[in-house]
Amino acid sequence: MNERINKPRGTMDFLGEDKKLCDSIEALLFDISEKFGCSKIDVPMFEDGKLFVRGVGEGSDIVSKEMFRLDVKGDHNYFLRPEFTASVNRAAIENKLYASPDLPIKLAYCGPVFRFERPQAGRLRQFTQFGVEFFDTKIDAMTAMDSVLLLYRSAEQILGHELFLKVNYLGGNESRENYKNALLDFYKDKVENMCFDCHRRYEVNVLRMLDCKVEEDIEINKSAPVISDYLVDEDKQKFDTMLSALNALGIEYKRDERLVRGLDYYTGLVFEIYDPMNMNLGAIGAGGQYGKLMEELGGPEMEGIGFSFGIERLMLAVDQVKKNELIKADVLDYFIVDQREEKDSTAIVLADVLRSTGRSVSASSYSKKLNGSMKMANRANAKITLLLTDNNPGQIIIKDMETRIQEEIPCADVDEVVSKLMEMEK
Ligand code: HAM
Repeated sequence: MNERINKPRGTMDFLGEDKKLCDSIEALLFDISEKFGCSKIDVPMFEDGKLFVRGVGEGSDIVSKEMFRLDVKGDHNYFLRPEFTASVNRAAIENKLYASPDLPIKLAYCGPVFRFERPQAGRLRQFTQFGVEFFDTKIDAMTAMDSVLLLYRSAEQILGHELFLKVNYLGGNESRENYKNALLDFYKDKVENMCFDCHRRYEVNVLRMLDCKVEEDIEINKSAPVISDYLVDEDKQKFDTMLSALNALGIEYKRDERLVRGLDYYTGLVFEIYDPMNMNLGAIGAGGQYGKLMEELGGPEMEGIGFSFGIERLMLAVDQVKKNELIKADVLDYFIVDQREEKDSTAIVLADVLRSTGRSVSASSYSKKLNGSMKMANRANAKITLLLTDNNPGQIIIKDMETRIQEEIPCADVDEVVSKLMEMEK
């Protein structure tokens, strides 16, 4: 036997019910986002590496160690996308979406992203993100809350219960610079004893040190200065307005001073959403505000806010009841069983004509016995089975699978059979 080739570690095949669940979650998310005024966008799966270095940031783990570089001919610096936000901003600039008179611009996307992470439950190397990005000259509290609300209400609808929302506010330039200086000062005599990644983070983006997962560093971080002490009045006010909106909406949240997120573009509000019943999965969705990304990518001064869900994490979090609701059993209109020794084209023509009227039609394999074929019709949830056998030459047996009542009619003229079936449907 030839050597078997398996899928790469950290990837998944989707089939059967899983594929249905995945599709129906995606469809529901697009549906809800449309109700929030989003239109769909698709961007390439690979981009110039500069986009992610400048967009997501050199200081992020994603860019420094998790990107898939494409080994292609020529002088290209192509990478598979590790996320969508940088690409959607690039597309907004390239297609001059910023010139739209209708603000905020609201875009929704879904597709695979690639990160070379250590695979574990809920952590894949290829996974699917659904997300939205809102753009405006200034992201006001209403637009920011609309994005959080879309994240929260979507997750609530899919999982059927309340979620755990974490929020933090990284502030505008002045607040962040003040805070970064305080952190640089705090870590100055500690960084040497911290992990190798933190040495780099200290140089490139000190905020990311707060997010370190190394135990000893977590201990050090406990006494680090907190952002709220460095927010200028204007930022404090903005954050307070957002928190009051969450209170008014009846959405519970936890303010987490250590939440800085793993991507460098964030300014202002950042948030993560968890399923309280599945905290081990990590965040099922996350996002935040970014004030300078579009400018940094060569576009105009325009701000953005957005989030992405990890579809595979949502799929793991969905319980059986919700799963059944989401993947309503398909019903098949007709199932054809042709048991005749010498088959003519009656069955295939019948299937074709029925399908042309919009009916769903399936058939059992020529090798199946009658009993097995009828069981297959049941498993396929068939409403009607059409049976051709040598015991009833020139006839077709129409069997209603619910009432078990059957009737025999001539099958020489397929159009007549179809008219009769349509009549019986009424
Ligand atoms: P992120 O936190 O890197 O943010 O990813 C968003 C979501 O993708 C996570 O909450 C998680 O559900 C899922 N996810 C991340 N890594 C993995 C993985 N290795 N395996 C499975 N699922 C994963 C972003 O990507 C930002 N672009 C979100 C955003 C949009 N910010 C503003 N706009």
